[in-house]
Amino acid sequence: MRTIVCDLTRAALEELGIDFDEAVCLEELRAAHGCQGCFGCWVRTPGACVIRDALGDLPALLARSDELWVFSENSFGWVSADVKRALDRCIPFVRPEFRIVDGRMHHRLRHDRTPELSVWLWSPSTEAERACARHLADANALNLGMRSAGVRFVTDPLGCGAEGDSPAAGAPAPSAARVPALPRRIALVNGSPRGPRSATAHLLADLSEALGVYARLAGVAEPELVEVACRQAGADASGLAGCDTVVLGYPLYVDALPSGLVGLLGDAARLLAPGARVYALANLGFYEAEQILPSFSLVEGFCAAAGAHWAGGVAVGAGGMVLPVATTPRMGMLRRSASEAIDRMIAAILSGADAGTILARPAVPRWAYRLAAEAQWRRLARESGADLGATP
Ligand SMILES: Cc1cc2nc3c(=O)[nH]c(=O)nc-3n(C[C@H](O)[C@H](O)[C@H](O)COP(=O)(O)O)c2cc1C
Repeated sequence: MRTIVCDLTRAALEELGIDFDEAVCLEELRAAHGCQGCFGCWVRTPGACVIRDALGDLPALLARSDELWVFSENSFGWVSADVKRALDRCIPFVRPEFRIVDGRMHHRLRHDRTPELSVWLWSPSTEAERACARHLADANALNLGMRSAGVRFVTDPLGCGAEGDSPAAGAPAPSAARVPALPRRIALVNGSPRGPRSATAHLLADLSEALGVYARLAGVAEPELVEVACRQAGADASGLAGCDTVVLGYPLYVDALPSGLVGLLGDAARLLAPGARVYALANLGFYEAEQILPSFSLVEGFCAAAGAHWAGGVAVGAGGMVLPVATTPRMGMLRRSASEAIDRMIAAILSGADAGTILARPAVPRWAYRLAAEAQWRRLARESGADLGATP
């Protein structure tokens, strides 16, 4: 059975004349909600999303599929916000508990079937975006227990099937002249669908507080901080206008950015001053902070397309620990690694410099993190009378 997820209308898909059994098209994607990050699909109704719209049973559909074909407009080196909404809603396809593959943490598989994942990205793409997309397709296949059949790049959606070769039009040349050397106005973007209750919110609040302290200690003018919330599609990006510096805070969602943030970046590209410095502050559920790095390539792709300057980021491993240890001392054993990483990024932000790639490694060993996380998933499932390994 072949399932297609695409940001083409059903009429445009049918025009392609491709054989398929089930398809989720632009009409359904646009009407569907984004993942709220509630994990109800793991602990309340395991295997099915708690939001009952057209994407609610997508994981069950995948469990019956031999092939998943994804057609999407290229968005900075991965899929569009519409298609990402569907990918984000696929996490109940796997179980919350972990397995280790090639030395890295991944989720346990829920189903025996391992569909083959093929991705087509249409609209122009640069070589860097293509490398990013290939990496993310393989990472998704590994994480979701699928087999990757790679990514094909085509010039337009109706040219699907023909390998395209259409580097994106040259990005606007960044002009540092329009952006002050030192930050005056910084946007702190919270891209977590969990909003103020998220690990991202905590990390950004920590950065904002420490930044004020360090600016005063250094005797430099305190930059204005603008909070931009982006929980779902259609978030208001206007706060980004006039910012010379942007910190993109986000949780890793299916190896990339949450769908709402992908949408916001589309608007941000029009609002940001040329040469604006963009930093990332990302966390993830797995232990290894390194698993965040491909998403930095995506942000770099955004910067290239928007004429902004990619200034590096902090990757926080074992994000499930961020909130439980939030009230412990900032430089105590449990928070020190993330606090030092954030401090290094603040030093870069305040001096208008690049931060490079900063990994905040967890303070506890992987086995301890895994044990604690899995005990929590089991407890939450027990409380709602659910079976973590159900296969709806
Ligand atoms: C839809 C969805 C997809 C996720 N995908 C990944 C992933 O690919 N890798 C990972 O390590 N964690 C993944 N996670 C876990 C989140 O990154 C993790 O829970 C994070 O700490 C949430 O941060 P927040 O509280 O700032 O939203 C995913 C969570 C959700 C809800």
